[in-house]
Formats: sequence, C-alpha cells, structure tokens
Amino acid sequence: MAATVPVIDISGFTAGNEASRAVIATRVSSALSEIGFLVLQGHGVSPTTISETRDVAWRFFDLPLTEKERARKPIKGAWRGYVTAEDENISYMLNEQLPPDLKEFFGFGQFGYGDDPYYRQSFADVAFPPNIWPEQPVDFKPAAMGFYREMEGLTERLLRVFEKGLGLSEGFFCDKFNHHASTVRFLNYPNQSEEALPGQLRCAAHYDFTAITLLAVGDAPGGLQVQSRSGEWVDIPSIPDGIVLNVGDLMAGWTNDRWRSGLHRVLNPPRDARGSTRRLSLCTSSTRTTTPSSSACPAAKMQSILRSIHRSRLANIACTRF
Ligand SMILES: [Fe+2]
Repeated sequence: MAATVPVIDISGFTAGNEASRAVIATRVSSALSEIGFLVLQGHGVSPTTISETRDVAWRFFDLPLTEKERARKPIKGAWRGYVTAEDENISYMLNEQLPPDLKEFFGFGQFGYGDDPYYRQSFADVAFPPNIWPEQPVDFKPAAMGFYREMEGLTERLLRVFEKGLGLSEGFFCDKFNHHASTVRFLNYPNQSEEALPGQLRCAAHYDFTAITLLAVGDAPGGLQVQSRSGEWVDIPSIPDGIVLNVGDLMAGWTNDRWRSGLHRVLNPPRDARGSTRRLSLCTSSTRTTTPSSSACPAAKMQSILRSIHRSRLANIACTRF
C-alpha cells in the first residue's frame, strides 16, 4: 500500500477523556514513526492569527528589494532577518551542489527574555542573537511576535501529546523546552517566470535538524513532499487551516530513532500552471540547544545518535555561504 501522510485532529487531547487522549497520542506517534509527517487539525492556533500573519508577510515580500534589504541578514551573522531569493542553497546539507533554492525568506527567533542569565551564555550569539525587524510594513513586528507566541503554545500542547505517545511521564519535556531556541521563517516561493535550472527546486531535499517543524502553508501549485521509507515521494495534503508537523533530527535522536526525521523537498510549480503560483509558508522550527537525559532516553545512546547526525549535518551547513 502506498505511503500517505495522515490528517489528525488533536482537539480531543485537551478537551476529551483519557481514552480519546490515548487514541490521539497513539495516532500521532504512529505517524511520526512511519513517515515522520502529519497534518494537524484542531491544533488551537487562531485562524485569524494565521491569516493576519500571512497578510503581513505577503505585504513584506511585495516591498521593493531595496526596502526588504534594509532588514537583511548579516553575511556572517546568525539566522535573523531577510534572505534574498536564491541566496540559500540547502542542498549543501546533503553534500550536494545543486543550484540555489527558488525562495526568499525572513527569519526571527526568541525575544522578550529579559535578564535571564541563560540567554547570555557562550552559545547565545548563535542561539539567541538579536532579531532584525523591518520598518515596513509597520504592523509586521507585532504580527510576527504574536504568531511566534501562538506557535510556542502549540508546541507546548504537542509536547504533552508526545509524552503520552512515547510512554513518558506528563511534563517530561517541560525542562527540555523551557529555554527553547525556536525560530520562525516566513518563506516566499515566488512565481517562476523562467524555467528552473536542472535540479533546482523551490527547496532542495533536506532533513530538518531541529526537534519538530510546524508549517502553515498556502494551497498553491508546487508543494511539499516527503520521501517514504520505500523511497517514493509522497505529497503532503493541503488542508484548510491545517498545520503540517514533521520530526527533525533532534527529536529523532531523543527518541532513539523511534520517530523518523524524513527527507523532504518543495517542488516547482508545473510550467503549464495558470495564474499565480507563488506560495507562502509560515515555518516554525521548534528546538532547543542541549540534549535531555533520562532513563527513558538513555543518555549514551542519545549522545551517540546526536553526534553522528548533528556533527555531520551541521558541519555541512557551515560550508554554505552563510
Ligand atoms: Fe525542512
């Protein structure tokens, strides 16, 4: 039977009884084991927040390039600010040298953490650098911050589902994410007036190296696919108000590979597509900076996996132009 990406309504996890909580947690865990992706419904993120964030993101990307570049990411800086079209080549994560991705994006991270000394440690310049906000649109920053907090809340709710699905005690993940270093990217995949170069995609095939990724995506030609265990590419269904969830390398390592970090990519729109084909994705990378340790996830095994996964892939990332 061909692999599919399931759609799972998680609203019953917080509102339902113990039996429905168990059913939802098992379904989520099964999907993350089998293909590593699912589409969330009943996730609790306000549709208004998503639509208003999409609106302000579109207005940002529609600005003249010179205006967007006023918030440009520094060449050697951490992932904050605007990155122009074709400036990221994610194929380097797999040691491939395909043409650059056909996308532009704006990225930002944690904020409002005050004087907490955790955020001033040696890794802070990488994990918690200052955000670079555009001056236009004037409502961009508050909308982006509101979206970040809503996705932070969804991650918290999901961690409770994960704990049950993994047979962990309730609250196990609390101290693993209380200083999270999650980031958000607003990604614009523009119309393609010219044919892409051989091997060039909106986003080349890659693994996410974070804990989980949450994607609020629009329905436009040229979509997201994940590679199944048998090697075929599987379309991620487009569900109104749905949020795509996928496992990254960090969570795969934390679960000793019980859950799967899936190879995924974003296709180009068909050349014969009519009308606008541009696509906007609101991407939240939920992650933190260090590894947990517990009897449920033996530290030695976790460290071994994380070393093998992260050192190789992070070393490759360091080879990109950023
Ligand atoms: Fe990804």
